[in-house]
Amino acid sequence: RHLATAGAYPSKTLGVDYNKQISVLETLKSKSQRPLTLTEKLLYSHLIVDGEREWDLEKIDRGKTILELRPDRIACHDATATMALLQFISAGLPRVMTPTTVHSDHLIISEKGAKEDLERATSEHAEVYDFLSSASRKYGIGFWKPGSGIIHTVIFENYGMPGGLIIGTDSHTPNAGGLGMLGIGVGGADAVDAMSGMPWELVAPKVIGVNLTGQLQGWTSTKDIICKLAGILTVSGGKGSVIEFFGPGTQTLGATAMATICNMSAEIGSTSCIFPYSPSMARYLAATKRDYVSQAADQVRDVLLTADEGSHQYYDRIIDIDLSSLEPHINGPFTPDLAHPLSELKSAVAGKDWPVELSHAMVGSCTNSSYEDLDKCRQLVRQAKEAGVEKFKVPFLLTPGSEQIRATTEADGILDELREAGAVVLSSSCGPCVGSWDRKDVEHKEKNSVISSFNRNFIGRHDSNPATHSFVTSPEIVTAFAYGGRLDFNPITDEVTGSDSSLHSKPFKLQPPVSQELPLHFETGIETYQEPPSDGSSFSVTVDPKSNRLQLLTPFQKWQPGCANNMKILIKVSGKCTTDHISPAGPWYKYRGHLENISNNLLISATNAFLPTLGHTKSPLNGEIGTVSEVARDLQAHRVRWCIIGDHNYGEGSSREHAALEPRYLGGTAIIARSFARIHETNLKKQGMLPLTFNDPADYDRIAEGDQISLLDVEEGELQPGKPVTMSVQAKDGSTWEAKLNHSFHQGQITWLRAGSALNHIKANTAS
Ligand code: F3S
Repeated sequence: RHLATAGAYPSKTLGVDYNKQISVLETLKSKSQRPLTLTEKLLYSHLIVDGEREWDLEKIDRGKTILELRPDRIACHDATATMALLQFISAGLPRVMTPTTVHSDHLIISEKGAKEDLERATSEHAEVYDFLSSASRKYGIGFWKPGSGIIHTVIFENYGMPGGLIIGTDSHTPNAGGLGMLGIGVGGADAVDAMSGMPWELVAPKVIGVNLTGQLQGWTSTKDIICKLAGILTVSGGKGSVIEFFGPGTQTLGATAMATICNMSAEIGSTSCIFPYSPSMARYLAATKRDYVSQAADQVRDVLLTADEGSHQYYDRIIDIDLSSLEPHINGPFTPDLAHPLSELKSAVAGKDWPVELSHAMVGSCTNSSYEDLDKCRQLVRQAKEAGVEKFKVPFLLTPGSEQIRATTEADGILDELREAGAVVLSSSCGPCVGSWDRKDVEHKEKNSVISSFNRNFIGRHDSNPATHSFVTSPEIVTAFAYGGRLDFNPITDEVTGSDSSLHSKPFKLQPPVSQELPLHFETGIETYQEPPSDGSSFSVTVDPKSNRLQLLTPFQKWQPGCANNMKILIKVSGKCTTDHISPAGPWYKYRGHLENISNNLLISATNAFLPTLGHTKSPLNGEIGTVSEVARDLQAHRVRWCIIGDHNYGEGSSREHAALEPRYLGGTAIIARSFARIHETNLKKQGMLPLTFNDPADYDRIAEGDQISLLDVEEGELQPGKPVTMSVQAKDGSTWEAKLNHSFHQGQITWLRAGSALNHIKANTAS
């Protein structure tokens, strides 16, 4: 019945192609009658189907099969876009092949307030913004200038499409699930693949179904659903899975409220999070002037935007949550899965040495800065004012999610009422949520507690202070606590009293705010979007060669025969080695667009099996000890090839492509490990490196200081998919031994290796 409507939706207008998606699903379903979960529908309908690739539903093994997908859209923020765009430029393509946007939100430092902070950012980061703006113009990318808002909020307002698939270089990209769009956080290398028209690869995720029944009551909001779920699943319980909500409760929630859940699903390590299409999504689309999307979505609701009947038995796990009995939650400190129902927080606080007085209350971030969120805060401010309490008890920071939210809440008087209560309205950006906070009220390492409506509360996350105890909860609970002033406050049982300046107030109890889901009218605010021209070929991108923040990439040299002979060992890494060990963030953040400079951090936190000093190694040339990058540079200067020996799960953690770019840039040929994290292994291949694993993991232990390694069958015609490689090891005393190594290159990836990188391969193919 519904399939008959296929063909009616012009993909250009929608930003998604329902016709094509339905046709791919039809083909899949022609071979299997199995009902599909919503996650499967949205992912599998984006599979690349061509002569080379045929997909069989019965052969897709969730958790194992690698899907090759074509996302509808890509988004990058300013901290990740620099390297992504530099890589894209080096591919030599005239224009991105998939709609892409860049968002200026992470670099703005919060300090004094929106106006001053924006001025500071545009001056301090002028070079980066100019680069992003000019590259976006040239390569057909939409550029959202500083002040536009936070990446996920702007996507939600402008590009959120039920049934779509978006990848973003930020872990909270699942936010789009509040509009029924599958959002997945990826590394820059993945984004560049999709920008370049290459297939985007993802291991078929498992699906965790969450059944919502009942209706939210009183102080409880959707934030509490995800806070509770974090308590159940822990920070890693969603790994490799999409969290799929179902049940009658899903139809009672607002779109932005569902986005809050999807956004924070990143905190349980999930791949993504999705809600079925609902009337509130249609209301939101209409309010943001996209009725045409909801009209099309209405027609494909059953076939594409909801799970098939009977598919629940195919969930890998089901969790039930009764909204009617759910309590407000406050999670923390230091980890978002330390969940405390409000009724238990007081006793939890009593037993710990957490600072009880709150030092800051913060509302905002991409997680909780919708109109509804800020309107709830305003209602509490009104209640307090009526009771004679004029001001919050603790400093209160507020970040609107976007210029649209700022302008709308400004026009409706919400921001003014919050300012009168003492709120400092920051720019529409990430600010304290990502540590871009020039905090002055506490000393470094001074113990203090903050409460926020953000999503993440890892150690030092907001202010680089390891002694800041951070708790996450809903905006209304944050606001109530801003009046209570203490961590052991409970708005349900405790009264609020005025601060010293409002002695005329009588103790009173705050009542749960009744939310207004959407404004009567969304203001668009100041124009902050730079539309790319249809032809950007006449524009140029300039990067100052003397810049220490940006550096154009020079294509890596293609495979040099013999480069895997007589390799020195740069370092034998022992134990855990995440991408944070290989290329840490923190102070290195500012060099993300400068490969030469950021390469100074190569393996700076790694443990060397032969040395006690972290991040250091002994030069195989002269025996001197230096940082790993210093020794690598010296080997490179002497035209000596080298490799790295890794332990188990080398490169786990993030998909940060710098961790693969750096060893390649510094002249490395191979990484030989006991095992690799899958994404890092692929990233190494993309950069033209040889990731290999010991066939017998015990051979790792045989590698000794001063050994020299040759790979005997990796030259043209020798390296074949599925065929092991022989490693010959020459010890210092001249003795030799051989061992088998495995690899996971498929034929296409071998062409990347020969070309010097995947981007070189694209470039060569484009030119020919
Ligand atoms: Fe920014 Fe924090 Fe969201 S860093 S993208 S506001 S999670």
